[in-house]
Amino acid sequence: MQTHEIRERFTNHFVRAGHQAVPSASLILDDPNLLFVNAGMVPFKPYFLGQQTPPFANGTATSIQKCVRTLDIEEVGITTRHNTFFQMAGNFSFGQYFKEGAITHAWTLLTGSLDDGGLGLDPDRLWVTVYLDDDEAAEIWKKKVGVPAERIQRLGMADNYWSMGIPGPCGPCSEIYYDRGPAYGVEGGPVADDNRYMEIWNLVFMEKERGAGLGKDNFEIVGDLPKKNIDTGLGVERVACILQGVENVYETDLLRPVIDVAEDLSGSRYGSQQQSDIRFRVIADHSRTGMMLILDGVTPGNEGRGYILRRLLRRIIRSARLLGATGETMEAFMNTIMDTMTPSYPEISDNRERILRVAITEERAFLKTLVSGTHLFEEAAAEIKSAGGRAVDGPRAFALHDTYGFPIDLTLEMAAEAGLEVDVEGFESLMATQRERAKADSRAKKHGHADLSIYREWVDNNPTVFTGFSELESQARVLGILSGGVRVSEVGQGQEVEVILDHSPLYAESGGQLGDRGHIVAGGTVLEVRDVQKIGKKLWVHKAVVDSGELAIGDGVVASVDRKWRHAARQAHTATHLIHAALRQVLGPTAVQAGSMNRPGYLRFDFNYTEQLSPKQIEQIQAITNEAVDSDWSVNTIETSLEEARAMGAMALFGENYGSTVRVVEIGGPFSMELCGGTHVAHSSQIGPVALLGESSIGSGVRRIEAYSGLDSFNYLSRERALAEGLATSLKSPSEELPERVAQLVDKLRAAEKEIENLRRAQLANESAGLLEATEEIGGVSVLLTTMDADTSAADLRSVATTLRDRLGQREGVVVLAAPSAAGDKVPFVVAVTEPAVARGINAGKLVNVLGTYLEGRGGGKADMAQGSGSRAEGINAGFNALRDEFGNL
Ligand code: ALA
Repeated sequence: MQTHEIRERFTNHFVRAGHQAVPSASLILDDPNLLFVNAGMVPFKPYFLGQQTPPFANGTATSIQKCVRTLDIEEVGITTRHNTFFQMAGNFSFGQYFKEGAITHAWTLLTGSLDDGGLGLDPDRLWVTVYLDDDEAAEIWKKKVGVPAERIQRLGMADNYWSMGIPGPCGPCSEIYYDRGPAYGVEGGPVADDNRYMEIWNLVFMEKERGAGLGKDNFEIVGDLPKKNIDTGLGVERVACILQGVENVYETDLLRPVIDVAEDLSGSRYGSQQQSDIRFRVIADHSRTGMMLILDGVTPGNEGRGYILRRLLRRIIRSARLLGATGETMEAFMNTIMDTMTPSYPEISDNRERILRVAITEERAFLKTLVSGTHLFEEAAAEIKSAGGRAVDGPRAFALHDTYGFPIDLTLEMAAEAGLEVDVEGFESLMATQRERAKADSRAKKHGHADLSIYREWVDNNPTVFTGFSELESQARVLGILSGGVRVSEVGQGQEVEVILDHSPLYAESGGQLGDRGHIVAGGTVLEVRDVQKIGKKLWVHKAVVDSGELAIGDGVVASVDRKWRHAARQAHTATHLIHAALRQVLGPTAVQAGSMNRPGYLRFDFNYTEQLSPKQIEQIQAITNEAVDSDWSVNTIETSLEEARAMGAMALFGENYGSTVRVVEIGGPFSMELCGGTHVAHSSQIGPVALLGESSIGSGVRRIEAYSGLDSFNYLSRERALAEGLATSLKSPSEELPERVAQLVDKLRAAEKEIENLRRAQLANESAGLLEATEEIGGVSVLLTTMDADTSAADLRSVATTLRDRLGQREGVVVLAAPSAAGDKVPFVVAVTEPAVARGINAGKLVNVLGTYLEGRGGGKADMAQGSGSRAEGINAGFNALRDEFGNL
């Protein structure tokens, strides 16, 4: 039975039983704790926790959720059942049926005949486990279902108590296993052998909430959930493996074709050798995961999700090489996996070109450095081993990463294959600087209270009615007030508060548009609203300061939006849509949005694109945008279903979840059509001019365009113009000739600077010639040990040392210079050794190390020239004496 059919049978079974079929959510959901959706229940978490009311008719739902788990990446291909991407089919009950319902639904589907819509598994091959003291579940299996007692086993917390691994819903579970027969392992049920007895379905009786703590079994249960729920997960690929009679999950109908292609491209045969079989399976598994991640908007990068994707793609490439492939392979792998996956995921069709482009670009980038990087690694490994070392040092691991694009995990794998370790700590400290930027970004991110349950009651009972599409001022009632993260009943002047209203015309930050600024007023009480955030999509939280008076729960107020703010915010948001459309006209449909931010007067737009935009492309995007402004198109909003909107061709960002109605914003017919909940101008001409500030890279494969809109745009352009006029006047050149004039000046300046530098060096060399008088003869070597002026630069030290060494000519000679700073806390130093002295075995690098220990510093270099820097000038004399001893002992 094909995988697609297993999916259909599953969904039909539960729809017949009254469940609402819910499409899979994107692999990327807005949850800071989760890199990727890793279980079917993730999108439903707020319903289990009671933060939101489930919107399903019977309080039950079914889904086949895309999941990615990369914790076990090294198990892929080695075991028979680990996929990094897999499909979890589940049924969910939110306070409806419980243990008995879940167990009987699962059993009838698994063992029901094919004619009845079941999967036709032999009941005698099924085993179950229950949690230690869960007699209730054990009884149901025995009495209601008829599973013989000896095939019901009990397991502890680590196996049969399920949670997301982080605080959240949890509960005991019961798992169903399929006995694959004696060829796969020993008798004795799942407790004896979990390879022969393959877990296929996990039924979680979700009734508790877990607290912090580690892992699967080391956490506290903090309380009961508001209701008893059911969350189940059936591994679609494992069932396919059984029903298709294949050995492992990599040989099912969806993945096997990739193995076949890998055979053709590499010339190796699958099934001939264990080590190469693992590589074939890695290629199949990772090709699919990579493809599905790109589909959902991930691009290769060095952090977070992008890093995982990069690691997967690079593992594919390396595996293909090791199997014997020589050319590019990614296009063939991606095309094959897209073919097998499209019947279940038709959205792949519209994204084929983009997926190929991302994967192939990554392959080309990696192939450029793979050979040289591997070479470097092998050299390093040989050197380390012959020196009796056991670990690849941090700087080398970093160079492999930074210069050759080897993800650290790849280096770790290669090192393990070579019997070495890696100094991961050293590597990480070098990476730390590179991470600065990412950290700064995340600091800038706003965050509210970590624990959103404080809002739970309001989210459930009183979602805010947003009135701001049609009015800028609304009557409202105060439903709640928070101060310092705790609920209070009233607040007074000067306090910073969060206010929850039943109605609000203020836009809450979402879809890239910042929250409105405005006021909440009641009689003499005035609050200035500085930000508005949305909780659980429905509740508006106004962050405000009490300017005057007092505010209490229950008060009637007038909430109003600052008109100027909103006017400019609308301009910026509509301008963002126009730029997006213009961008796709110029760059093609593969330039997919990766994020955006707009506030009054300014916007930025991030998109997936691997090349720098040319000035001409930027010019074109700006021109198309301003022509669209000038066309005075009306901006229309249409409320419709997500499916309708997709059919209309509206662009939806990845991460979009199912939902009954969506809002489409349309400008100029087909010119721009996007799913969007933001505020917009009524006619495009109301935006005013749009001025692009330029574009930049904000990470691997993601670029950013920034622009001003409306009056800010005009102000920007007029500032630029004043600047150009000022320059034209002072350079006495018409403004259109400025670029050429400036280029000439810069050239002249560079030439002059170079000349000055040459003169200065020559002078320095002359001045320092006298230093040679202090040369000492020690052990047959002419040694000059001396200090130079404070703050002589390292470059100057080096140049003087070179000159002096050259003057020593064919003598065995060593020049050692140090230049302590006035404060004595910095001592650059240099050692230069003549050729004959090198031949005798004197090594500048070694001498630098000796000196470094006295100056509390370090350095390095070659045998004839090495440099370093210390931090303790008092050590110079002792250091020089130590060097004298070295020569004396030669
Ligand atoms: N949430 C359960 C699991 O992931 C079904 O195993």
